Amino acid sequence: MEAWHKYPLQVGDGSIIRNAFLPDFEAQADFMGGYAADDSAYADRESFWHTYFQARYPIWDEFIRRHVDRDARILSIASGRCINELRLLCDGYSVTSSDLEVPACHHANAELFGPHEYLALDITKQTPPGQYDAVMCLSLIYLFDERTLDAFFRNVSTTLRSGGRLILDAAGSEQSLLGTLYHRGFLKGEAWAHYLLRKIASATPLSRFRYSLLIRNYGFRWKSREIIQMAARHGLKLAAREEHDPLTELSRSPLLGRALARPEGLLARLLVKLIGNRLKYLRLFVFEKQG
Ligand SMILES: C[S@@+](CC[C@H](N)C(=O)[O-])C[C@H]1O[C@@H](n2cnc3c(N)ncnc32)[C@H](O)[C@@H]1O
Repeated sequence: MEAWHKYPLQVGDGSIIRNAFLPDFEAQADFMGGYAADDSAYADRESFWHTYFQARYPIWDEFIRRHVDRDARILSIASGRCINELRLLCDGYSVTSSDLEVPACHHANAELFGPHEYLALDITKQTPPGQYDAVMCLSLIYLFDERTLDAFFRNVSTTLRSGGRLILDAAGSEQSLLGTLYHRGFLKGEAWAHYLLRKIASATPLSRFRYSLLIRNYGFRWKSREIIQMAARHGLKLAAREEHDPLTELSRSPLLGRALARPEGLLARLLVKLIGNRLKYLRLFVFEKQG
């Protein structure tokens, strides 16, 4: 496991800002674009799906349906706005959602899709109430260090019945030599070069804006092997795994993003083959509770 940083430029006073790690609910909600119920997205169900059920969400949906029975009692951890959870509920699955706090949109979700249970739950500190056939957890564990990931698996394991399943997405590419070179070498170097060029430009009368470089502590990138080993310590045995999405990590680079704008071009295909396919963003696991 290694620390994961991002390096966005933002209009500012030209300084370097080191952003502390903020895993609290408000910061997380902000990062997700807020959990308010925007009128246009909540006009009707079609608008909701059109706005939110995009990109990684259909991939997660398809994966969950393949690995969880329709009559299973499911607990979702870190549900946020409940995009996948509502999709499953609409198709007759039984899902209890949870997050650090119940989000502002919960009431609007209920008006659009009908009532559904939403628990305030910190999975690193609390064992969920009750026993479930399945637990789903999408895009959370990159926030966890060794101690909190261990607590996560312990609490999830306690709430699963024997033979029950954990559906987990690590949401972040593998920590590997290539990943380290890409994140800590290429992306960091590119951001610094961009920042310094902007700084030079801002000294001329032609430039209207100054930019600051934000060094944002984003979480952790885990090796799949480490995740599987830690789960096993809590009686959760790997039953299946898949990887998807070779583009998200590549698209973090403004430079490579330009090449990817022409997906059929030789450069884009080479980038996907040499880097994207080895740093897939979605790492999906199914674990089965033993004994
Ligand atoms: C990146 S969002 C993912 C939300 C949702 N699964 C999705 O993909 O739309 C991460 C969520 O994890 C929640 N979270 C962070 N730490 C948590 C914890 N210790 N226990 C439960 N949820 C947590 C945050 O509040 C946030 O809503």
